[in-house]
Amino acid sequence: MTDQYEVLNARYEEVKRIPIGLAEAATVLAAAGDLSRRSVLDVGSGTGFYPRLFRSAGASRVFGVDAARAMVGYAQRQEERDPLGISYEVHDALKLPVIGAFDVVTAVWLVGYAPGPAALDTMLAGLAANVRPGGRLVLLHPNPEADWAVLADYARYGLTVTRHDVVDGRTRTTVHVGTEPPFEFESFFWPPGVVEAALARTGLTTVRRQPVVTPPGDEGFWRPLRESPTFAVLTAARP
Ligand SMILES: C[S@@+](CC[C@H](N)C(=O)[O-])C[C@H]1O[C@@H](n2cnc3c(N)ncnc32)[C@H](O)[C@@H]1O
Repeated sequence: MTDQYEVLNARYEEVKRIPIGLAEAATVLAAAGDLSRRSVLDVGSGTGFYPRLFRSAGASRVFGVDAARAMVGYAQRQEERDPLGISYEVHDALKLPVIGAFDVVTAVWLVGYAPGPAALDTMLAGLAANVRPGGRLVLLHPNPEADWAVLADYARYGLTVTRHDVVDGRTRTTVHVGTEPPFEFESFFWPPGVVEAALARTGLTTVRRQPVVTPPGDEGFWRPLRESPTFAVLTAARP
């Protein structure tokens, strides 16, 4: 499911500047914990938004991989323009080699694109194999318990989500991003418990759902997002 990202590349990053993107990044950073002097592998790194954020949060070594050449090319051009010491490579997460033993492995909006339960197991095994003993995995995926009516009425946060059919065990949706001009992409929601169960099969332990973090202030504005977020963040540890 990388074709749409071959076309989107730079536009995709606009999602990070709308309100929900701010809450998403705050939640991922909180779940990742203190990154100073940590090595991070970001799988499905897209435009390099998270690798750059992790580097500015103090990570000593950041490596990004994505299956879409256009996304990796965009991230590399950003790195050439503003060097932060981040390396990027093209890799399919379904055939991920062991790139290293990282303190933290992240995958943001990746696992929904695993085409079926067996592919999900393969993808998570590849992520887990890159976590050093004592390290952790941070995974953000579409919230399996989301209230569809609330997501359809999410314009205040900069996007809405329309539910379609079930494909390979996942609910297929279209995400409509209300930027000027607007754009859309497909996203896939696993049913409740599926990703947690697959994570447990990798041998990682202490699988935990992390709380949603919203930017400070305007409690009333952020409440619906906290009650029915588009995303769920899970962490797991390698013993
Ligand atoms: C929704 S984007 C998220 C990008 C980035 N994680 C972010 O949040 O800014 C999903 C990314 O996953 C990548 N992707 C999808 N399937 C993949 C696969 N099998 N292996 C590696 N990357 C994949 C896409 O190319 C795309 O860049």
